[in-house]
Amino acid sequence: MGPNGEAEVGSDGPRQKGRATPDTITIGCIAQVTKDGQPRRAEILSIKETKSGRQFYCNFDNFNKRLDEWVPVSRIDFDQDVEWPNPDKDKQKDAKSKKSTTVSKKSQPSKKAQKKVGKREQSVASEGQTPHPWTEFVESQNKVDGEDKANASLEVGGTPGLGPDEMELDEDETPASAAKKEHTQSFSREQEIEKLRTSGSMTQNPAEISRIRNISKVEFGRYVLFPWYFSPYPEVFSQEDCIYICEFCLSYYGDLKSFTRHRMKCTLQHPPGNEIYRDDFVSFYEIDGRRQRTWCRNLCLLSKMFLDHKTLYYDVDPFLFYVMTTRDDRGSHLIGYFSKEKESADGYNVACILTLPQYQRKGYGRLLIQFSYELSKIEGKLSSPEKPLSDLGLLSYRQYWSELILDLLLGYSEREEKCTIETIATRLAMTTQDVEHTLQALKMQVYHKGEHKIVIPEKLMHQREKSRAKQKRVIDPDRIQWKPPVFTAASRTWGW
Ligand code: ACO
Ligand code: ZN
Repeated sequence: MGPNGEAEVGSDGPRQKGRATPDTITIGCIAQVTKDGQPRRAEILSIKETKSGRQFYCNFDNFNKRLDEWVPVSRIDFDQDVEWPNPDKDKQKDAKSKKSTTVSKKSQPSKKAQKKVGKREQSVASEGQTPHPWTEFVESQNKVDGEDKANASLEVGGTPGLGPDEMELDEDETPASAAKKEHTQSFSREQEIEKLRTSGSMTQNPAEISRIRNISKVEFGRYVLFPWYFSPYPEVFSQEDCIYICEFCLSYYGDLKSFTRHRMKCTLQHPPGNEIYRDDFVSFYEIDGRRQRTWCRNLCLLSKMFLDHKTLYYDVDPFLFYVMTTRDDRGSHLIGYFSKEKESADGYNVACILTLPQYQRKGYGRLLIQFSYELSKIEGKLSSPEKPLSDLGLLSYRQYWSELILDLLLGYSEREEKCTIETIATRLAMTTQDVEHTLQALKMQVYHKGEHKIVIPEKLMHQREKSRAKQKRVIDPDRIQWKPPVFTAASRTWGW
């Protein structure tokens, strides 16, 4: 596994080759396996018996871990030699990370262990491993530049008399931070997207990386979902070809019969909380993790299937969940949500954020992000999402930050008013760091005649005009019916 989680299949030196059969092929073998109609090299990471026969969990050469999958015998080419696992190397590997060969034992931590897993694991996840390029991007962005620049007075304008060649980049960064920036910012958008396909998730925790996706298919309302990652549903569920989740109460069932029985009885038609926002398009509900523990845990289990680097399954008490739905005559259907600590010492306004896959890339993530900032505006706080962000999370936040900052600056520029980083931060409820990093990423900060300035490159103006034509939906802040909730110390914490 490379630092980005991409598959480096068979990189442990020469291997013995030979024919295998469905009965003799073992974990660690590399075989030719069909993916999207194409034969691909893949390592077998696990083997299980299911009701529809033996299945093999494959990690494909040069594909994102998200694209690992369980395949039936028919997709493995037994007419070709397989590469047998290298016994010595495998032992080493095993000693190092207990790599994924024991799914049945490892994939289900004991109930006690599961309880302990939680937010704390988020910080563990970012320690001691090679950072993902995007983590590095965020981290380097967080490290470079001091407060002095954030506080410097800045002028907004369409760079009168300052062509791109005349722009001086800020010089007060260390070579190390500059090198890091060079490295991290050199991705083009295309490269980023390509990286999304091939590179791994944000997981930095080997124990998490080694967990194999346990659920292969989910029926959820009128959608069929194909999970991306492991989620700690009870172990018996991993033997099912498909599990059924009630789209309203989020309870899960391993067989259609009991699920159908449940649906006849289940009366819930919307998330179990107060509706705090409604427009013609979506609604938002606020749900307290402590009051609706089961529902919120079920939501976390569901979302874990699409979120790799954060784990929050059992200790839902300290969180509020803001759930976005779309309405029809059958009820309010879950589109996505974000969780938020009741009290965040670090000033985070989002812990986890997710759009269910059937709704992704349609602008809903942007609505969730906007909503989180609208709440921060009401609270009068400057906020930021919890780090690390996932690859998709970073792309979405960067897009949101860039667009909002650009629009705000264009307004100031038209009115020929001056604007500081603080003004931008306050207007958008963003932290000054996030504002600065976005300006840097967009190459909008220059150092000219002894002054830090913000300039808006022509190219960005044109891009923004084009993207504005797309007519994205937005949250109407006037429709938010919400006051920051107040909690006693006891109600913020664990309730057992
Ligand atoms: N490829 C390239 N760009 C993308 C992609 C992608 N797959 N997904 C989002 N973007 C960028 C685009 O710029 C997009 O704007 P555009 O469509 O106008 O170009 C912008 O992000 C916003 O896209 P939305 O459609 O509004 O976002 P979506 O509804 O897909 O939700 C989200 C984004 C929540 C990150 C979603 O991808 C998701 O749930 N992913 C899995 C869970 C996850 O990684 N969550 C974030 C973890 S970080 C944290 O929790 C703090
Ligand atoms: Zn139900």
